[in-house]
Amino acid sequence: EEDKFVSKLLDDMTLSEKIGQLNQYTSHWEMTGPAPQNSESQNRLEQIKNGDVGSMLNVTGADATRKAQELAIKNSRLGIPLIFGYDVIHGYQTMFPIPLAEASSWDTEIVRLSAQVAAKEASAAGLHWTFAPMMDVGRDARWGRVMEGCGEDPYLASVLSVARIKGFQGEDLAAKNTIAACAKHFAGYAFSESGRDYNTVEISPYTLHNIVLPPFKAAANAGVATFMNSFNIINGTPCTANEYLQRTLLKEQWNFKGFVVSDWASLKEISIHGAAENLKEATSLAINAGSDMDMESNGYIKHLKELVEEGKVDESLIDDAAKRILKIKYQLGLFEDPYQYSNIEREKIEIYSEENRSIARKVARHSMVLLKNKEQLLPLSKQVKSIALIGPMANSKDIPLGSWRAKAIKNSAVSLLEGIQASVSAKTKINYAKGCDLTTGDRNFRQELTFKKDNNSKFSEAIKAAQKSEVVIMAIGEDCFQSGEGRSQTNITLKGEQMALFNAVLKVNENIVAVLMNGRPLAIPELSEKAPAILETWFAGSEAGNAIADVLFGDYNPSGKLTMSFPRNVGQCPIYYNYMNTGRPTSTNNVFWSHYTDSPNTPLYPFGYGLSYTNFEYGELTCNKARITKNDSIEVKLSITNSGKFDGEEIVQLYIQDPKAKYARPVKELRAYKKVLLKKGDSKQISFSLNPSDLGYYSPDGEFLIESGTYHIFVGKNSVEVQKISFTLKE
Ligand code: IFM
Repeated sequence: EEDKFVSKLLDDMTLSEKIGQLNQYTSHWEMTGPAPQNSESQNRLEQIKNGDVGSMLNVTGADATRKAQELAIKNSRLGIPLIFGYDVIHGYQTMFPIPLAEASSWDTEIVRLSAQVAAKEASAAGLHWTFAPMMDVGRDARWGRVMEGCGEDPYLASVLSVARIKGFQGEDLAAKNTIAACAKHFAGYAFSESGRDYNTVEISPYTLHNIVLPPFKAAANAGVATFMNSFNIINGTPCTANEYLQRTLLKEQWNFKGFVVSDWASLKEISIHGAAENLKEATSLAINAGSDMDMESNGYIKHLKELVEEGKVDESLIDDAAKRILKIKYQLGLFEDPYQYSNIEREKIEIYSEENRSIARKVARHSMVLLKNKEQLLPLSKQVKSIALIGPMANSKDIPLGSWRAKAIKNSAVSLLEGIQASVSAKTKINYAKGCDLTTGDRNFRQELTFKKDNNSKFSEAIKAAQKSEVVIMAIGEDCFQSGEGRSQTNITLKGEQMALFNAVLKVNENIVAVLMNGRPLAIPELSEKAPAILETWFAGSEAGNAIADVLFGDYNPSGKLTMSFPRNVGQCPIYYNYMNTGRPTSTNNVFWSHYTDSPNTPLYPFGYGLSYTNFEYGELTCNKARITKNDSIEVKLSITNSGKFDGEEIVQLYIQDPKAKYARPVKELRAYKKVLLKKGDSKQISFSLNPSDLGYYSPDGEFLIESGTYHIFVGKNSVEVQKISFTLKE
């Protein structure tokens, strides 16, 4: 049906109409208001009427999308519907925790659920398509966009990205509450040199195949509707012009049937990179390389027709791109009812509903990571007589909403203060003091964030509050717009006066629980040493304060584990657990081994790390075979006992190492994990089954290799605290 419909439609289309489908514009003007005044925007309205536009981004709301859709349907010759895209990254109006936070749950159901609610809200606002999930494997905390990904591991990024795609797309794209997802950024964007956004990417083919590409391949296999290419170059070729990635790999080898959208103006940037003379040549390179839709470069609409007429671009490429786009529109049900998503009644009921917010609270609880808990300071009693709540984030209703906040209402999050007030007994006295400013200055993204000096630099109010309280909760970290697109940082410590505030308060009250809010791993060695308890809450979304209070007061036992290593200092970045052994990995009597002379090599908190209020004891790791063949599988087992005082969830992690391979392999690679719920006192047998394909890897040429020889398996509570067992894979 779909093929027939789309082929018939294509046959009826002129070359210009096909090119129109490949053209995407943004809307910064109000579709529902008076006609835009400037000629550029005016012209765009005419272009929509003329069938010269296939998609719009940033048109949101049932009314605006309906009006824009009407322009296309009622005026263009064939009435082909527009597809509306938007960056729904962690919620539409009900904000969920940032993706890096959700990844800390390692929980596919939690991640799926969050995306499902986001899709429900976005589709109720007339949207068809989100530019998410971002599946760039991020190793460098300086890069502001790590907040948008799943962390540093390709296996985990694959599993969680697929869960997100399922959440957005559901079983049926045509259902009115699902939207098309977009696997981005294809590829290598997170490897921007020195963590500076949009910078050059230097990446070996070996790393490309083994670290960068696996999540994208998993997304293609899972049926993601679209891909977005990326701003960066690889081997000197901008990704938008990269034929190997988009045609050979994605469309041919992986058999991807959806379409590829460029990143914003990335087509235009091909010539800025220096890989094309002008926009016309960039256009030719991009379409030949397999970029199907042009986001905001105006290259396709301006130059494709003449390129075909000049014989520089084969019309069949335009047919193929248009066909891919029309198919997704068909799958979304837009040809049946182009307005089915633009329903004002539904929009009123389904966006920011009680139900959605309660799911956001649940997701947020699962996303937090307990980094330290000396002498079980946490959980706190709800009957505590007095709490000093201190810190620049403590009363913020905005910071927890995070970056990439779609249509979140400013200042709409439950603040930590509100969450604590709602949680503790009526008799508990809460002594609030901001302590110091985390001045965001103008949050306009063109401006650097500035930090105002605390005029009252003795922190006198905070000290007073701490002195008269049993316990201190101190909310510190970064402003939410210190991470996100275009927000790279060279200093990833606690900025401004936050550490000084902490030290001043510590002098008068040692019972401090540090509650961190941040969009990237931070370098916090001093805090880590001095604070008795640290809870990483990231930017937890609309229900942040409630969810944090749930954890602080023991209504939820934290279960999250880090998916990015926390460095001791920024000089260690990029730092990741699956590093290569090097030729000189261990300490010698001299300096000639791979290390720093002013810092340990190890991270402050490793990948996979996170504590619980309870205690999980790991039994002895056993393995059913010492040898397997390539047609066999191996099973490893161990028991886990909850020997502590709380019910809790544990994430049991399995890593492998191939200590001698044709191409040197990392010291550890995550290959499986299980999240188990154990009531206090209970034990469970955990088993993992590994097939030879779980042991494989890619050569620098992209060939998948499974080599015979010895393998090590490590199982444990994080990437460092593990037990080891070995076996042999025979020919
Ligand atoms: O989706 C984003 C992308 O991740 C970065 N550039 C802009 C796009 C559309 O907003």
